[in-house]
Amino acid sequence: MASAKRDFIDIAAHDGGHLRHLLELTGRIKRGELAGRPLQGRTLAMIFRKSSTRTRVSTEAGMAQLGGHAIMISERDSQIGRGESVADTAGVLSRYVDAILIRTFGHDEATELAHEATVPVINGLTDLLHPCQVMADLFTAGEEFGGDMSALRVAWVGDGNNMANSWLNAALRFGFTLRLACPEDYGPDPAILARARAGADVEVLGSPREAVVGAHVVTTDVWASMGQEDEQSVREEAFAGFQVDEPLMGLADPAAIFLHCLPAHRGEEVTAEVIDGPRSRIFREAENRLHFIKATLLDLIGPRERSG
Ligand code: CP
Ligand code: NVA
Repeated sequence: MASAKRDFIDIAAHDGGHLRHLLELTGRIKRGELAGRPLQGRTLAMIFRKSSTRTRVSTEAGMAQLGGHAIMISERDSQIGRGESVADTAGVLSRYVDAILIRTFGHDEATELAHEATVPVINGLTDLLHPCQVMADLFTAGEEFGGDMSALRVAWVGDGNNMANSWLNAALRFGFTLRLACPEDYGPDPAILARARAGADVEVLGSPREAVVGAHVVTTDVWASMGQEDEQSVREEAFAGFQVDEPLMGLADPAAIFLHCLPAHRGEEVTAEVIDGPRSRIFREAENRLHFIKATLLDLIGPRERSG
């Protein structure tokens, strides 16, 4: 019997063993231990309904470095933008390419694409989740504090958005401690939070100070994500007091690092002093997006090393 098609849509859909395997593979790739062009002749379609710098360029460069090829499909110049259905798009692209990455608004579109496609689908960000970014962030934390994620304390300060939801899923699968500080009415997805609470040491607090105490990783994101631009001024008011600044970082573990998926707004969710300061690992974090997506592409469409 043929094995089920695999996707990378949601960290919580994978077991801890598989996720650790992906991080180990990321490390081997980063250290240059993988020779050759294992994806020679392989092609990836990348559907982007939202803007991107890191996700698009790291994926396209990663495919090229592995010997494969990536095709950018934007709304503007494809039939997707003119309303062609997800099912028809999936059916067609599955006959041309070996995998599809999608960045879109509704998470349902990514899951429907994965359901309809016969090739693996990768979530390059939805309104609900940003799994590849949080995996790269965890890899970055592992470089700093070692691979035993269970001892890690992570503090999320700010919006309960796609990044926060993905951190919750990661806490559930890796078993680290997660404290989120979110303004009232801007908490994470309730179902994702409830599932994480049932299986991991996670808590949502109203106070950034309380969340950051003793943290090894302090991380945040913009106050208004893509698609929420109209809410910017309302959100600026709601998020006052949720800026990551030096006094807040002073409450964290003495060895704490600061992460931000980028793009960042200096002077809003984080001060320039922190994001450009000695604890910031933002560029290493961005670099690790490249190594992680290569690991994911190899895992999904490369020569099979391991089942599961
Ligand atoms: N962090 C991240 O996903 O960046 P892009 O929006 O530039 O892809
Ligand atoms: N939460 C942000 C992440 C950008 C990489 C957004 O969705 O716009």
